[in-house]
Amino acid sequence: MKTRSLILTLALLVSVLPFVYADSHGGGDHEHTELEDQMSAMNKAWRSIRRQISDPAKNESTLELVAKVKKAAMKSVELTPILATEMSGEEKNKFMAGYKKAMKRTVGLIGDLEAALKDGDNAGAQEIVGKLNDARKHGHEKYKPEDD
Ligand code: HEM
Repeated sequence: MKTRSLILTLALLVSVLPFVYADSHGGGDHEHTELEDQMSAMNKAWRSIRRQISDPAKNESTLELVAKVKKAAMKSVELTPILATEMSGEEKNKFMAGYKKAMKRTVGLIGDLEAALKDGDNAGAQEIVGKLNDARKHGHEKYKPEDD
């Protein structure tokens, strides 16, 4: 009887361990989220924007890329970061309010970037790109799982 319960306990442990392991990795092994899809879409366009932002001859193409980033950022405002799914109550409300505010501010900066490019103000546009890089850095520090 003793051996049987030991075997049962071991079997249970073995079946449960992979889930415990995945969970302890801060979402590293989780389902793909819609926010990740929007972020990936933003990232691709963002890399090209950073490369060509100082070149006025590319402003038309840069504006097309900015439109893509804006669309994904606007959708992101309404989405829920994976970290929030593990929270509840006041903690979750606070996290979501902070996230939404930061993402709305990001959408605002993208609008400023659009306006500067339409004015042909590439120096101003470069400055706004710097601000957006800061917004991304802070947004990820506060709202994104560390090992993602
Ligand atoms: C130009 C701006 C930004 C770019 C290019 C960008 C890019 C990315 C990339 C590449 C990922 C990883 C996606 C994946 O794992 O497939 C990501 C994840 C994430 N980003 Fe951003 N990001 C930007 C701005 C922001 C801002 C401003 C915030 C918050 C206010 C934010 C919050 C997050 C979160 C929470 C995740 C994790 C996804 C989840 O929880 O489902 N990002 N981002």
